[in-house]
Amino acid sequence: MAVATAKKPGNGKPDRKHNIEAMRQAYYERIVKHSMTPLWKVMSSLVPDEPATRCVPVVWHFNDVKSLVMEAGGLITAEEAKRRVLILENPALHGESRVTNTLFAGIQMIMPGEVAPAHHHVSSAIRFVLDGEGAYTAVEGEKAFMSPGDFVITANWAPHDHGNPSDKPMLWLDVLDAPTINFFETSFAEDFDEPMQATTRQDGDSLNFYGSGVLPDGTPAMNRTPVINYTYARTRPIIERMMQTGDIDKRHGARVHYANPINGGPVLPTMGANLAMLPKGFRGEPYRSTDGTVFVCAEGQGTTNVDGQVLEWGRNDVFVVPPWKRYSHAAPKQSVLFSISDRPAQEALGIWREGK
Ligand SMILES: [Fe+2]
Repeated sequence: MAVATAKKPGNGKPDRKHNIEAMRQAYYERIVKHSMTPLWKVMSSLVPDEPATRCVPVVWHFNDVKSLVMEAGGLITAEEAKRRVLILENPALHGESRVTNTLFAGIQMIMPGEVAPAHHHVSSAIRFVLDGEGAYTAVEGEKAFMSPGDFVITANWAPHDHGNPSDKPMLWLDVLDAPTINFFETSFAEDFDEPMQATTRQDGDSLNFYGSGVLPDGTPAMNRTPVINYTYARTRPIIERMMQTGDIDKRHGARVHYANPINGGPVLPTMGANLAMLPKGFRGEPYRSTDGTVFVCAEGQGTTNVDGQVLEWGRNDVFVVPPWKRYSHAAPKQSVLFSISDRPAQEALGIWREGK
């Protein structure tokens, strides 16, 4: 191959540096036609020295969210929309329908008398109930009536539909592992002919059957929880008792993780969630971990400092701490924070890390 020989001006000798750059450039242009590219040009972004996130810290205040979601109630029915959800999009990931790199989040509303029809999909979903009382999620034959603070699981391929026989709109936070499922390109989804599934179990059966220290004979091993609704009425008194006994983590407060009662593992293989009570005047020590986390304030108010950026939150506000960003919570009054992340998936792959 003929390569132009560059010469340094003045002394008449070849400019080796210029020459090699030109040769490299010509080489790169040639190999790209073969769908190849040099690793050495992308090494630092492909294998960064520490986690590099595209996400940014962000908070959604419930007052704004609620009025905007209520507006959608006049524009489209739950049946037409299939799910009347406004996506909470991380501002740094505009157009990508994700709140962190691996998680989807949205605020769903169901109006009195509406039904969100039955379907199932590979993506697992959780609901954290924000506002209203008496709407239900039917999952795997159990019609779970929901109250604020309830944590409802719709696992991979579990049939589910929602309805609201109450006289008030109901709003909840949906979090799905859809970006993870789509990363693996493994999504399937299917609608059912009937809008509502037949329910054979009573409300609360799955929590009573599996979450009471006994298990029905023949319960199979499962890598996800069989419990449909971890009610706030059952979980909140536990963190309150932990406060009273002094079981308060200096970073997280009095915190529990929602567990699969079959094996003690996380509720889902792809997503895990916590509920934490922060005592009045709490000033948390700094913490960071590789799982980007979505928080919801269930009670109280406070601030979270994320790498110097202060997020202010009150009841039902949703906020995001990106992966490996150092953060600390502060609460002037007793507060409760729900949180959810992809930690179980990272732990299963052996890549989860935490630090100060
Ligand atoms: Fe769904």
